[in-house]
Amino acid sequence: MKFFVDTANLDEIREANDMGVLDGVTTNPSLMKKASEKAGVKLDFHDHIGRIAELVQGDVSAEVTAVDFDGIMSEARSLAPIAPNVVVKVPLILDGIKAIKALKEEGIRVNCTLCFSPTQALIAAKAGAAYISPFLGRVDDISSDGMKLLEEIVTIYGNYDLDTEVLAASIRHPMHVVEAAMMGAHVATMPLGVIKKLIMHPLTDTGLRRFLADWEVYQTG
Ligand code: G3P
Repeated sequence: MKFFVDTANLDEIREANDMGVLDGVTTNPSLMKKASEKAGVKLDFHDHIGRIAELVQGDVSAEVTAVDFDGIMSEARSLAPIAPNVVVKVPLILDGIKAIKALKEEGIRVNCTLCFSPTQALIAAKAGAAYISPFLGRVDDISSDGMKLLEEIVTIYGNYDLDTEVLAASIRHPMHVVEAAMMGAHVATMPLGVIKKLIMHPLTDTGLRRFLADWEVYQTG
């Protein structure tokens, strides 16, 4: 399973990258706003995506904000050349689906975002999306089942051997990652805090403390 960090904050991206297990980055307009607020300046979107793409080896998703076909195509054509590892994020709407097909024909890879149903995921794959991003946490937020949605998408894609990678998004805690991995989702994108939680276990801490205390006695005794 690939791990992406879901942030536009360069410090967080560096920290995740330093762990040596980072495979990519996902951003969105809200995360750009948050990174700008943190930086105390309005970050230039294109420059910032370029910086992120230089920092990491894997794919970096940069989202369009147009909602019409021509606008999506135009934004995608200006984002894709920033770096070879930039993937354009396109919303799962009718004009978005049309754009995914046209962009694929131009060799531009798309992460199809804001997916909340298996039919949406099937159509995005048929259009040729490189990634589909079901938002698990946001489905859970409305008292529905994000993991069920993910399972349906993984099953449907498996039935037809579709090339689109399933990118589990809107991940809120480690169990989302565990369940997504059990289902065989190709990628999990998560905040840095969740990546860090994947490492933690109280028995590891207790065991380590005991080993170190015993080692101390062994050395001095
Ligand atoms: O990258 C999009 C997705 O991960 C958003 O997550 O927490 O805002 O629902 P969240």
